[in-house]
Amino acid sequence: MADFVGAIDQGTTSTRFMVFDRAGHEIGRHQLEHRQILPGAGLVEHDADEIWENTLKTIDVALADAGLTPADLAAIGITNQRESALIWDRATGRPCHNVIVWQDTRTAPMIHTLDAGFLRERTGLPPATYFSATKVQWMLDNVPGLRDRASRGEVLFGTMDSWLIWNLTGGEQHLTDVTNASRTQLMNLHTLDWDDELLRLFDIPRVMLPEIRSSAEVYGKAFGVPIAAAIGDQQAALFGQTCFAPGDAKCTYGTGNFVLLNTGTTPVRSTHGLLTTVAYRFGDDAPVYALEGSIAATGSAVQWLRDQLGVIDSASESEQLAARVDDSEGVCFVPAFSGLFAPYWRPDARAAIVGLSRYHTAAHITRAALEAICYQTRDVVAAMAQDSGTELDCLQVDGGVTANALCMQLQADILGVPVSRPAVAETTALGAAYAAGLAVGFWSSTGELRANWREDRRWTPSWTEQRREQGTTRWRAAIDRTLDWVSL
Ligand code: G3P
Repeated sequence: MADFVGAIDQGTTSTRFMVFDRAGHEIGRHQLEHRQILPGAGLVEHDADEIWENTLKTIDVALADAGLTPADLAAIGITNQRESALIWDRATGRPCHNVIVWQDTRTAPMIHTLDAGFLRERTGLPPATYFSATKVQWMLDNVPGLRDRASRGEVLFGTMDSWLIWNLTGGEQHLTDVTNASRTQLMNLHTLDWDDELLRLFDIPRVMLPEIRSSAEVYGKAFGVPIAAAIGDQQAALFGQTCFAPGDAKCTYGTGNFVLLNTGTTPVRSTHGLLTTVAYRFGDDAPVYALEGSIAATGSAVQWLRDQLGVIDSASESEQLAARVDDSEGVCFVPAFSGLFAPYWRPDARAAIVGLSRYHTAAHITRAALEAICYQTRDVVAAMAQDSGTELDCLQVDGGVTANALCMQLQADILGVPVSRPAVAETTALGAAYAAGLAVGFWSSTGELRANWREDRRWTPSWTEQRREQGTTRWRAAIDRTLDWVSL
């Protein structure tokens, strides 16, 4: 058997291809950013062709740089930004509209008519602009002729996993995995099939939907290599962190933050604003579920400081700038650019920086952005403790922002529990590789994968309880401001 496994990680801001060996060590990678198309306030789109071209380039370059060919790969796994919705022409493969990205809030007016109780029971998800269903409905209603073409089966819907698998297999396979399907709000969380009542509610023809498959099985081949896994990126990170037992949890710091808690083979219903979602399903095994706290804007707040305000040249500079001050000194930044997700679910909330005086500088605002990442994480970890009845004793973290040591120290301080980062911080790609490798027998068991996990660094809390409480009270007051704003 070949010695390596590859993973395509198609994320919100970039696409990367990574190659891992049997010990889970990185052997090669290449990464390309794609354009964030922002046609108006609250609108976020991607060019699906650009993403497909980037995918091919990253595979080519990563393999070439590592001195490998596709024949060296035992399997390829795919992991992807979830919910972002695309419709394309079945005959030509041409996209019918840009990808409408998960952060896009154009469907906010459609949300308040939806029955929250029914949706939560059927899908595990509240009414929100976040999920694919209203995005697909919007395209069918707003792109001329698209609804008729959809009913005739001439166009196909998919999340980015479907788009890549369809292209990688030369248009032969139109499928998705159960984790991605669980984020469309069209799948019944209990039957794991598309739900006719939901399809009627969102007015979406079944004929345009992909087949739902497990997260780890061979779907087809690309360049002669089995495509053996598809799994939403946050679920992949849970897998890459080897959170295989009920009670295991992780937090991934990307464009947004996503805390997932493995709840085993029973879906746990949240009463504190979290999502119930499918964590993964291996072949015919019972599906494993998770509770999820999804936060829309964390790393993207740092990107906003870089791209829109220009106070830093790179995301990593945020650490030095924030370290110039010991405290944000009363400044709170709530980056509700796409409304507030868990546990608030307020698509109408808008971002705010509060508590400013003439004295404050870019350093205070940058420090407040890092604190916002941590307070938002605290909010969902608290909701998770209430839903599950168990307190975390340590938070396992991964993703780009975990390179920021100041932010990780703030996270431990604000949470009041240690924060632990693994040796492989690219846990998302690793999780997709693990799933694909298990499917083809490259790895024999989850136990073998667990043995690969090693801690790289741990941050322990240094704040007093009183300081933590003061900070949390101020944060809550700032959250209220972002909600007040819309009612004015
Ligand atoms: O649900 C959205 C999530 O999958 C996006 O993750 O890492 O691409 O920001 P990321």
